[in-house]
Order: sequence, then structure tokens, then C-alpha cells
Amino acid sequence: MSQPTKQHLIDPEICIRCYTCEMTCSIGAIEHDDTNVVVNPEICNFCMDCIPVCPTGSIDEWRVVRRSYSLDDQYGFSELPEQEDMTETGEDADTDMEAFDDAIAALLAEAHKGTGGKAKAPASAAKPTINLYNPGKPAGATVQGNYRLTDVDSDADVRHVILNFGSLPMPVLEGQSIGIIPPGTDDDGKPHLPRLYSISSPRDGERPNFNNLSLTVKREEKGVCSNYVCDLKKGDSVQVTGPFGATFLLPEDPRARLLLICTGTGSAPFRAFTMRRQRTLGANQGGMTMFFGARSPGNLPYFGPLKKVPQTLLHTHMVFSRIPGAPKEYVQDRMMVEQEAVADLLADPNTHIYICGLRGMEEGVEKSFTNIAADIGIEWQNLRDTMRGEGRYHVETY
Ligand code: A2P
Repeated sequence: MSQPTKQHLIDPEICIRCYTCEMTCSIGAIEHDDTNVVVNPEICNFCMDCIPVCPTGSIDEWRVVRRSYSLDDQYGFSELPEQEDMTETGEDADTDMEAFDDAIAALLAEAHKGTGGKAKAPASAAKPTINLYNPGKPAGATVQGNYRLTDVDSDADVRHVILNFGSLPMPVLEGQSIGIIPPGTDDDGKPHLPRLYSISSPRDGERPNFNNLSLTVKREEKGVCSNYVCDLKKGDSVQVTGPFGATFLLPEDPRARLLLICTGTGSAPFRAFTMRRQRTLGANQGGMTMFFGARSPGNLPYFGPLKKVPQTLLHTHMVFSRIPGAPKEYVQDRMMVEQEAVADLLADPNTHIYICGLRGMEEGVEKSFTNIAADIGIEWQNLRDTMRGEGRYHVETY
């Protein structure tokens, strides 16, 4: 019987193909084809550098195996294999079974250490389609519009870009992303990899029942794709991959109460959530509470339209960090100010939490949750792990 070993894998159902892990891995253990991103078992040394950079947690998958899944095996995965039953002894009768079982238990425990449980979709979310188009077989879309969302004199250029897919199927759900392939090649002469953008329109389209969708894109200095997308003109053609994402999804359950926390363009999926509920549920739903951080009102994407959404549907807390003469305020600070309302949500098993935007906010938001939960006698880490296990806690930060 061959010795069991730990193997690092990537969940193809959850991975959004942003390739951040591949770019982070300094020893070249991660690679991809048009379908999957995979880990080379011959090279991976479990350094864990790729774990924190993954926006979805799809990277944090481990198995104890007698024979490693090869690159070819992994390229063929449409879902991850279950952990194989390691208690089967096989033909080698001389094995010291007790020592063997202990070794397996230790490997399994180590393999799952620190993962905090696997991200799950809400129980009542619709089943998403993923990876319908890839770099080898992209979908062609046409730009229907490109509008600036931030004030012309503000320092951020954030755009609302509408893409029309004509007769091509592009089934998407709120919370999913698509990839855009910028034209041209990178420094090594290879075609650019797609860049991921959250969809900011609901499943039935930016305009109901038109086969279109919208993105919320911020121009980044020297950003190859963001500059390309922000400069697109009406009628331009764009190469699209995806859709991606199988966990950061809107629950169908109308009673689900949503706590949405975002900065900047992290608001994109929450615009989609809001429009979906507005179109399908009206006021008859569990409600959404949003903490939205931006530098100033002129820098907050969708500031005008958001102010018009009825507070019964979406209770907004807009938080600004750079208003002249006012103290800097972050989303986590406002959560403390509104701690009674947040505590009420934490105590309710119908609450779903979504965090989207700058990675830096995670630490502060965690601290606020810890303090608010402690005040009502709840240990936040336990609650968070329970919520994650039930598909009620979702983080997408970058
Ligand atoms: P700041 O004024 O300190 O940059 P951006 O405009 O860069 O996309 O950022 C959106 C908002 O997120 C800004 O108000 C920014 O504040 C704020 N922000 C930056 N870092 C953090 C953090 N660690 N936690 C919460 N909010 C943050």
C-alpha cells in the first residue's frame, strides 16, 4: 500500500479564474488551461502563499490521497472528488493498522487546519451556470453604453459599462462575475489573461429581458484591462469569459435579511441584489441593510440612484472618509455606531452577510463584528463559522 500524502487542490465550481493564485505562486506550482486552474503535486510545497490572496476560498481545498491527482486528472474535474475512504486497508495485510490510521487522522486534520469551513451558496440560491465561455472559446459582446459614475472633478473614474450579448446565451445570477480579455499580449508575448469584474445588473438583464448586463469598473493607473474597459465606446466588440462564482449568490428566500458591506466598486453585486429584489419582491421581503464606504459622495458609484431606493427595501448607511472638515469614517466605524441594528441582524438565523471591496476592510469589519457580537453574548468566530457552513457568510475582497 502506498503511503498517503496531503494534496492541495482548487475547487473548480467556486474558482472564478482570476489567476491571482497562479501569479502569487513563486515556485510555479499553479497553472491553468482554458477550463481549470490546477496545482502541480510535484511542485507544491504547501507554503500557503496562495491561500490568503484567493477572493473566493476555492484555493483552500485539501485531500489525503494514496495516489496524487495528476494535472490531467485536475484539468478534467468539473467538481472536486470526495475525500477517499482511507480506512480501507487494501491487500497489504502486514500494515500496522493503528499507526496507519493515526497517520491518516493527522494528515486529514492538518489538511483542514485553518480553513474555517468551505464557502457555500445560500440554501435557497438558484443554481448558477459557470465557465460557459473561456479564453479559447470566448463570447463576443457589443458595448451598449459606457457612463461615468463618479463626479468629473473627483479623483476616481468609475464607469458603468453595459454589454449586449445578442443571441448568445449568457445566463448569469446576481453576485457572479465575468472575465474580460484585453486585446494584445503581455510582456512575454502571451495573450492577456481575462480580468474579472462583478456583474452589477440582475439576472434578467440591465434592461429587463434584454440579453445584456452591466459592470462597474474603476480605472486603475497602468491597469491594462481597466483602462481598456473604461475607454470602450458604444458599438465596440469585447471578448468575454465566464460566468464565474458559485457561492456569493443572492438567496431566493424573500425572508432572508441581507447585511451588505462594501467599499467602492465592491457595490457592484449589491446593485444587482437590490435590482433583483426591487423587480421581483417589492417591499414584501426581509430587507437589506448596506454599509457603503467611499471617499466622498461624488466618489460613491450609484450615489444618486441609491438615494432613491426606498429604505424599506435597502437601508443605506453611506460612509465617507475624505469629506473636508469631517472626521475620516470607515464602514467598520459606522457599524459600531449602528451596533444595535447590526446585533439584531447577527442574532437572526435568517440573516446573510456579504462583504465586498477592499481587502483592507476585512480586519476592521471583523473587529466590529467581534465587539458587537460579544455585547450580546455571542462568540463571533463561532457564529461566523456556523454562518459560513450554512451559506450565510460571504466575502469577496481584492
Ligand atoms: P481612504 O480615504 O482612507 O482611502 P477607494 O476609493 O480607494 O476605492 O476606497 C473606497 C473607500 O474605502 C474609501 O473611503 C477608503 O478610504 C476606504 N478604505 C480604505 N482602506 C480601508 C480599510 N482598511 N477599511 C475600511 N475602509 C477602507
